[in-house]
Amino acid sequence: MLARLPLKGDETVLDAGCGSGRVTEMLLERLRSGRVIAVDGSESMVSAARRRLGDRVEVRVGDLLQLQLESPVDAVLSTATFHWIADHDTLFARIRAALRDGGRLVAQCGGEGNVKRVHGAALEIGAHAPFREHLAGWRGPWNFSSAELAQQRLLAAGFSQARCWLTPAPVHPPEPREFLRTVILAPFLERLPEELRERFVDAVHGRLGEPLELDYVRLNVDAVA
Ligand SMILES: C[S@@+](CC[C@H](N)C(=O)[O-])C[C@H]1O[C@@H](n2cnc3c(N)ncnc32)[C@H](O)[C@@H]1O
Repeated sequence: MLARLPLKGDETVLDAGCGSGRVTEMLLERLRSGRVIAVDGSESMVSAARRRLGDRVEVRVGDLLQLQLESPVDAVLSTATFHWIADHDTLFARIRAALRDGGRLVAQCGGEGNVKRVHGAALEIGAHAPFREHLAGWRGPWNFSSAELAQQRLLAAGFSQARCWLTPAPVHPPEPREFLRTVILAPFLERLPEELRERFVDAVHGRLGEPLELDYVRLNVDAVA
């Protein structure tokens, strides 16, 4: 994904939703004399990114929906973040405003249909006792956009070009139950009381069976400001 971003090495690049700085570090390797600004909404993620990156990167806590930089950057990179943000119109407008004219946005996040089978099973099980009082009617925080809608929104936000496409990326985790518990089902478990959590994981795991294939679908974005 990083290879999709053309860089000479002297640019200023924003990592939008840097998390613990895993991808930021790889981005930094491609910028010999450039600069990286990394933004994330979570204090704990920003602390982890600062520990990883030291003073090589300016890491800021901030909501991307209120992104405002002092001067425009040459490029924006974002991985695994946009599907956590409901309002893509505002998000793309903030990112466009942070880019110089001609600057590039390269992003990847969960797209339309992402983990549909797993979420479907979890929502189905959550609609029944003993989970339903905590989960019934809840549809989760995810915004898995279609490629067409993302493209329309990028152009409406002021990008001059936008190319978006979906890529199926099935995953077979080596420890399926643990992966379900710690990654995919985490937002469900947050809503459940402690004593129901393991039971819920077992129910979803049992429903999906093994070998477990997670039906990841990536939304890719290449856009020019
Ligand atoms: C799955 S992590 C991805 C981190 C990193 N880009 C990576 O690929 O390893 C998603 C990140 O998006 C951040 N995030 C979600 N919504 C956000 C928002 N509105 N503003 C800023 N960061 C946000 C979360 O705090 C989290 O660190």
